[in-house]
Amino acid sequence: MQISGSIKETRNQVKSWKEEGLKVGLVPTMGYLHEGHKSLIDRARAENDRVVVSIFVNPMQFGPGEDLEAYPRDLERDSKICEEGGVDLIFHPEVEEMYGPDFHGFVDMTVLPEKLCGASRPVHFKGVQTVVTKLFHIIPAHRAYFGQKDAQQLAIIRRMVIDLDFDIEIIGCPIIRETDGLAKSSRNTYLSEEERKQAVILNASLEEAMKAIEEGEQDAAAIKAKITEKLNTCPLARIDYVEVVSFDNIQPIDKIEGAVLIAIAVYIGTTRLIDNRIIM
Ligand code: PAF
Repeated sequence: MQISGSIKETRNQVKSWKEEGLKVGLVPTMGYLHEGHKSLIDRARAENDRVVVSIFVNPMQFGPGEDLEAYPRDLERDSKICEEGGVDLIFHPEVEEMYGPDFHGFVDMTVLPEKLCGASRPVHFKGVQTVVTKLFHIIPAHRAYFGQKDAQQLAIIRRMVIDLDFDIEIIGCPIIRETDGLAKSSRNTYLSEEERKQAVILNASLEEAMKAIEEGEQDAAAIKAKITEKLNTCPLARIDYVEVVSFDNIQPIDKIEGAVLIAIAVYIGTTRLIDNRIIM
């Protein structure tokens, strides 16, 4: 397995694989890999001849006062996980390699980034779209793998690839959960023992919503109320948002029909966690 911090070297390697007729899969990450990332690597491994994992904590997607400095990093551990997962190349650039001193460019979009996480993290998706665009240019893979846990991010990247004519297939992969249902996330490491116990409320509230939908509830407001009520039973939970939107354009809907995203963001103590269900 190669590890490169160089844009030029990485691009040349991927180009030469493609010239040999090999299929290349990309798994973009910010590192501190967990089971969720491993499932993306496994899927990429199964569907491609070569797998590239990018590990880059992208400063552009963190707003002022967010956890950029505290964001967990462990390249040695990540490299081991990648090696075991059969990754061929890790792209691990320094910030200066990605954003030179005169960097002024960015990629943005209207509508999709405005609600849900975009409402409380106004610069976040602009940073995500910019870095993902750069990664797609540096690593011109055939397929790129993203987790459905970041459902709004997935919807935005799918839209961006269509709107801006990127020649890459976007694959959304299921959420990987702890045995008690908590969605795996690098941010779970911030939780104290008591917070970790109470964090199961996110998945539990979504489970109740899904049960109600299976039993015939179609009113989006009733589903939101059910989730909110359940979350409010948890003393350490503070709701950022509970939303029922179209998965295609991230706009609120009244009725559960078509592709639907039920998305929640909740502070457990000071840690902001997200979870969702996508109904297709
Ligand atoms: O989902 C993430 O880890 C990041 O937002 C991504 C897509 C790697 C861009 O920095």
